[in-house]
Amino acid sequence: MKGLFLTLEGIDGAGKSSHIDALEALFRAQGRQVTRTREPGGTPLAETLRELILVQPMDALTESLLVFAARRDHIVRVIEPALARGDVVLCDRFTDATFAYQGAGRGFDAAVLSALERWVQGAPGAASGPLLQPDVTLWFDLPPETAAERLAGARLPDKFESQPVEFFRRVAAGYADRAAASNRFVRIDASQARDRVWQQVEAALAGRAR
Ligand code: TYD
Repeated sequence: MKGLFLTLEGIDGAGKSSHIDALEALFRAQGRQVTRTREPGGTPLAETLRELILVQPMDALTESLLVFAARRDHIVRVIEPALARGDVVLCDRFTDATFAYQGAGRGFDAAVLSALERWVQGAPGAASGPLLQPDVTLWFDLPPETAAERLAGARLPDKFESQPVEFFRRVAAGYADRAAASNRFVRIDASQARDRVWQQVEAALAGRAR
């Protein structure tokens, strides 16, 4: 059976994480093996880097290098082996988050991010050719103001969650640009009630799950 690489994206407070349990159950009910993981993170090294990325102040290039270093370890140790086994890889965030947060949010050079993406997700040393990319990306889209209301008081905010709403407007615009450039994205209207959001997720995967 062919592996399926599925990612979840959206600004903080979009509610993507609350559907991961149900997504896992959906695929398991079809007899699929599921590897559930997240970024930054997913391996001991990448989880260590996550703690630094989400807490320490650093310039945007340092942040991007750490995010892609974590991603490289995650791809080599977890994602590629799981896809080779035929698993469904359910990953909470991936490279689209780097273009949205470091690129659009922090204003970092997208050309540098694209170069790092090729290094980390391409064949070693290849200047062109295919990149490892998700098969499907569920993009949980909602207005940054609504997301901020949902996050308020929920828990102690990390480095990104404590950014002002203008930051998340840029991040949201970054996601919209990425989504417009590729047909692997399915936009989920995350402003609706939770069960309506889940219905959209199910509908998005109706043709893929199996
Ligand atoms: P998130 O996935 O929202 O996890 P949690 O639900 O535990 O808060 O948090 C990860 C944060 O890291 C989020 O604010 C986005 C940020 N991030 C980046 O800035 N760049 C990246 O490449 C990735 C994967 C995440």
